[in-house]
Amino acid sequence: MSKRIDVSGLTAYYGSHKAIDDISMNIEPRTVTAFIGPSGCGKSTFLRTLNRMHEVTPGGRVEGKVLLDDENLYAANIDPVAVRREIGMVFQRPNPFPTMSIFDNVAAGLKLNGSYKKSELTEIVEKSLKGANLWNEVKDRLNKPGSGLSGGQQQRLCIARAIAVEPKVLLMDEPCSALDPISTLAIEDLIGELKERFTIVIVTHNMQQAARVSDRTAFFNLAAVGQPGKLIEIDDTERIFSNPSVQATEDYISGRFG
Ligand SMILES: Nc1ncnc2c1ncn2[C@@H]1O[C@H](COP(=O)(O)OP(=O)(O)O)[C@@H](O)[C@H]1O
Ligand SMILES: [Mg+2]
Repeated sequence: MSKRIDVSGLTAYYGSHKAIDDISMNIEPRTVTAFIGPSGCGKSTFLRTLNRMHEVTPGGRVEGKVLLDDENLYAANIDPVAVRREIGMVFQRPNPFPTMSIFDNVAAGLKLNGSYKKSELTEIVEKSLKGANLWNEVKDRLNKPGSGLSGGQQQRLCIARAIAVEPKVLLMDEPCSALDPISTLAIEDLIGELKERFTIVIVTHNMQQAARVSDRTAFFNLAAVGQPGKLIEIDDTERIFSNPSVQATEDYISGRFG
């Protein structure tokens, strides 16, 4: 089995508080993996350990390994900024740079990472907006502020910004939870298209969404409040939703808690 991401023995802390304990999993290229589980079980924390964002939080630290294409992202010689370029992130609330134009929002990551000719930038911005299924809606107003778009459009703008730098992996933390149902479906369709080019990991509270968009589903849970979150099981999405191995998974997906 080819692996894009290979996590072993990953434990993460906030100061002395252990938020997640001893998580191991593999993620294959060009797949969508959904993380599900009750609030506070560490889904966001774990997601942020995958691109070295966890350590940005004061007191945030990690034990264990995350391999991206066999390279340990926590090795001493690795630059966390380079990691975040390879593994991009989309957040719950769309967060375009408010004073920047639509064009500049998409170009922002590129400008940080190198020098591009104006014509190259124009080409990549168009390709990225097309890749995010937003081009037709914004092509006549690329110089208007990104903040003038609807919530769903802003989220697709953030996705365009994330894919412009051609990452290997896209992490999405509840990317639809602030959106209406139509915008949510647009993002779900987009995820289906993006997985042809990227490896995607998505946290979602919406079971139907996990079932619709993902190939693999990971269920996380807490033994008790205050205890660290653990990975309970990860399997093909179809199996998790029809015949999970663990009773707690069955209880969670059938709405008995969480
Ligand atoms: N910035 C933070 N500082 C301290 N503790 C945090 C912080 N963010 C999350 N936590 C704690 O880490 C645990 C996991 O939280 P989180 O990863 O947000 O879970 P989820 O995304 O599954 O709801 C919780 O106990 C939460 O209180
Ligand atoms: Mg969360």
